[in-house]
Amino acid sequence: MKLGIIGTNWITAQFVEAATATGQYTLAAVYSRRAATAEAFIASTAPATAYTDMAAFLASDVEVVYIASPNGLHAEQTVAAVNAGKHVIVEKPMVTHPSQLAAIEAAKAAHPGVFVFEAARHVYDPNFAVIRDFAATHPLSGATLAYAKYSSRYDDYLAGKDPNIFSPRFGGGALMDLGVYLVYAAVAWFGVPTHAVYLPHLLASGVDGDGVARLTYPEFDVTLIAGKAYNSQLVSELYTGRQTLSFDSPGELNRVTLVDDTPHELTRPKDANPMADEVAFFAEAIQTHDTAAEAAQWALAKQVHTVMGQLRASTAIHFANDPE
Ligand SMILES: NC(=O)c1ccc[n+]([C@@H]2O[C@H](COP(=O)([O-])OP(=O)(O)OC[C@H]3O[C@@H](n4cnc5c(N)ncnc54)[C@H](OP(=O)(O)O)[C@@H]3O)[C@@H](O)[C@H]2O)c1
Repeated sequence: MKLGIIGTNWITAQFVEAATATGQYTLAAVYSRRAATAEAFIASTAPATAYTDMAAFLASDVEVVYIASPNGLHAEQTVAAVNAGKHVIVEKPMVTHPSQLAAIEAAKAAHPGVFVFEAARHVYDPNFAVIRDFAATHPLSGATLAYAKYSSRYDDYLAGKDPNIFSPRFGGGALMDLGVYLVYAAVAWFGVPTHAVYLPHLLASGVDGDGVARLTYPEFDVTLIAGKAYNSQLVSELYTGRQTLSFDSPGELNRVTLVDDTPHELTRPKDANPMADEVAFFAEAIQTHDTAAEAAQWALAKQVHTVMGQLRASTAIHFANDPE
């Protein structure tokens, strides 16, 4: 499949590497705001056509568009690509407000056969399935899920710059950037919570540097801890009676251990490129026109972003592209 990409940062290079390694994708078009940036990306990856005009990029013969722009642009770029008849793989978070789901759904309805996937890479990690299967077969009494990494962009923020990921202009902050991994895990493993609240630590910019969420389920509660202004070494855990399923973080999933009287290692091997599993899944679904697979992932994404909306609605975090 001919691949077009929007956004030229390191994550796009990692995606292109994973995609081309499957043998199912060929980089064909690179969109950037600046021609020199597109040319530099092409020079360091694979031959492709550079575009600085979005309409021309979307009118090209690419079949799949990967979107890795700032969060606040994801929804409108997804709609534009679907309306151009392109399959879309859009980085997390696919939307920054749940109301944006309707616009993507309308575009999908107008273009049946066009697939939209959110690049929630951990969902396709083999260890994600290990934990999902454990949760489905054990009576849970709770869980704690943590993902907090000190962002290199936080140094820029502290230096008085306005990096996208710490700005309400583009839907930044810890919940949107890393919390979304935790919400994906909770919804995929435990279902949709009956209640969701978020207690953020707000930065002067108006977005959250870190925060704690509580998701309520009928039989137990789940705590989520997300942060971009510090590094956490906390393990994440599912509790069932005297047993604990322990793993590094839903966003990494390098090690999964069942802790009982003695620890049992449950970790499954995986590819060194953390995007390898998702790109293989998306290629298979698109090429076999597996509408059931796409519908299942779309349904999960909708549930996740509905919960994300509830979490943010419990805070004073407002983004530039929020509805009035
Ligand atoms: N799955 C993962 O593991 C993972 C890891 C990192 C990031 N991500 C996701 O990838 C996305 C991009 O993250 P990032 O850190 O690379 O973001 P970023 O550096 O803020 O922006 C990404 C790209 O968007 C373009 N861009 C930057 N500012 C823009 C602006 N003001 N208006 C329009 N375009 C702009 C730039 O490309 P040009 O200069 O070429 O136009 C840039 O390379 C985010 O949604 C993030 O959540 C995912």
